[in-house]
Amino acid sequence: MKEVSGDLISFEGIEGCGKSTQAKLAAAFLDEQDLKVLLSREPGATAMGRELRRLLLSPDFAPETMTELLLYLADRREHVRKIIQPHLEQGFLVLVDRYIDSTWVYQGYARDGDLDLIDRMNELVTGGLCPRRTFLLDCPPEIGLQRARKRNLTDGSRGCEDRFEQLDMAFHQQIREGFLLLARQHPERIVVLDATRDVENIHRQIREVLEALYVVR
Ligand code: TMP
Repeated sequence: MKEVSGDLISFEGIEGCGKSTQAKLAAAFLDEQDLKVLLSREPGATAMGRELRRLLLSPDFAPETMTELLLYLADRREHVRKIIQPHLEQGFLVLVDRYIDSTWVYQGYARDGDLDLIDRMNELVTGGLCPRRTFLLDCPPEIGLQRARKRNLTDGSRGCEDRFEQLDMAFHQQIREGFLLLARQHPERIVVLDATRDVENIHRQIREVLEALYVVR
């Protein structure tokens, strides 16, 4: 195993943008380089998080905005303290499928929420742990939702659309805009990728960034 100091990398984007596929490919690539890698996700990485995810994504509940925000933050706190931080301390590269930016966009920007408050809450629950790089997979919501629906049909574990996928196109458009705005605010951290391109092409771009950061030749 090569020793690098631990680092956090996140993958973000609208529903069906392909971030989970890309996170898996990136993890496999880093693993092939003999680096210590952990692939994780939000919400739902810890035992408690899995219960929170079930509640958050169920169409049976429509939590009030602040309740929803607090549940995502509770999931993040458990994740950071019990999984991310211990792995970083052991020198792992931790790849997360969604993190702080999803909260900023979904609970903040797209809902006219208090963005400063969300920044402060994210800071509080993560202890200021920010990703070194964030890959934002950007595509029009029509394309993302089409993919997400196809996935729901073929994926037995998600037989029906979850609560977010049921929201209307205008909401998803807002989500996309929010992510792009964040990318303009943090150009040193957020790498925007055209998610309408094919999987291999996107993976190659991600690999180049990761190689420059972690692969010593
Ligand atoms: P997924 O599509 O990556 O499985 O994410 C589950 C849903 O949770 C997705 O619709 C985005 C939403 N979400 C938030 O609204 N806020 C958050 O902070 C996170 C992490 C996810």
